[in-house]
Amino acid sequence: MSVSNVIPTSSFAVDGIRKDVRDIGASLIREVAHLGMGRGNIVPLWFGEPDQPTPEFIRKAAIAALEAGDTFYQPNRGITPLRDALAVYADRLYGTSLDRENITVTVSGLNALMIAMQSILKAGDRMVTTAPIWPNIIAMPKVLGAQVTTVPLHAGIDGWQLDIDEFIAACAPDTRAILINSPNNPTGWVMPAEDQKKLVEFATERGIWLIADEVYARLIYDGSDVAPSFVPYVSDDTRIMVINSFSKSWAMTGWRLGWITAPKGVGAELEKMMEFNVSCPAGFVQQAGIVALEQGEDFVATSRARYSRARAAITERLRDMNRIHLPEAEGAFYAFFRVDGVEDTLTFAKTLLLSEGIGLAPGEAFGPEGAGHIRACYAVSEDRIHRAMDGLARFLKR
Ligand SMILES: Cc1ncc(COP(=O)(O)O)c(C=O)c1O
Repeated sequence: MSVSNVIPTSSFAVDGIRKDVRDIGASLIREVAHLGMGRGNIVPLWFGEPDQPTPEFIRKAAIAALEAGDTFYQPNRGITPLRDALAVYADRLYGTSLDRENITVTVSGLNALMIAMQSILKAGDRMVTTAPIWPNIIAMPKVLGAQVTTVPLHAGIDGWQLDIDEFIAACAPDTRAILINSPNNPTGWVMPAEDQKKLVEFATERGIWLIADEVYARLIYDGSDVAPSFVPYVSDDTRIMVINSFSKSWAMTGWRLGWITAPKGVGAELEKMMEFNVSCPAGFVQQAGIVALEQGEDFVATSRARYSRARAAITERLRDMNRIHLPEAEGAFYAFFRVDGVEDTLTFAKTLLLSEGIGLAPGEAFGPEGAGHIRACYAVSEDRIHRAMDGLARFLKR
């Protein structure tokens, strides 16, 4: 029997799926990655994840919890000790006085974003965000039937910048939510504290919800311990939800653990959303999360230092290639650059992969504003960075 790989784009069944869902395109990053997966000797810099496994002390906490029989359903908003630990973590970093009522533990940052959007956006509403941007942030409101307006970040000599007045002006009367992802994927842009303040004042006055995606909060390279944050503005007098995750700071991408910091009053609503989406995060994963928060600061600092060295290495190598333009990036763990003469970066990424075994993400994946750019995740060993840069330099000389 032969099995066809061709997935029908139209059939009685497919046509019954909501158009909003069908209209969302497949991931262009995966389109490149699928071409390379299974091939030997690839240097993959396409996904946004550290190349090291979760530290042993965190893994051991999960194993101990499993061995102790922590295999049952858990409260929708997370176990109390983890919610308390997350409030203490915020207070330590931002000087806030939050408590567990501000915290909802989620199954990843992605789940946190979806729950926040499901609670806020209905069909026809508008969300305004910056671009280029991680594609899921555009796709998720569309799943809900909402519209998205994007305001471009501008690449200059000093790095990526947002004109905050341009952003505010783009918030049409039907705007129900603003989403700010800072530190930003893919550009590394970090929103300055004074722009955050201005945006909070604007959003509060207009009654617009502000969703802040801060999953890269600890990955900032100006010597600070944490990026400027919207967490200090969270209260029952503002409409702010801050999304965070264990994925990037504690190298826990596969564990699927995140959290929302929100006004206490909306906790009961988020609780319902958790129930209907995932019920709860796994207990043994939450136990590991507590240990990550309580004992993981050295790991956060060591990984930041490692990424900082990797960032210096990739920046130097890319800037040595005279066809490449790389704006300064202050946070996250990506180099987002342009190559002179390359417009179609999807084809470029595929050809580079097939000829040199280097896996990069095409800029088009991050919206039309990302066209002509290429993203490389540098949360990898310096050896991998140099191998990737050697291949890219060879390829560009052809
Ligand atoms: C901007 C941004 N937000 C959220 C996430 C979600 O992370 P996770 O679902 O692993 O917590 C990612 C992952 O790449 C991201 O880049």
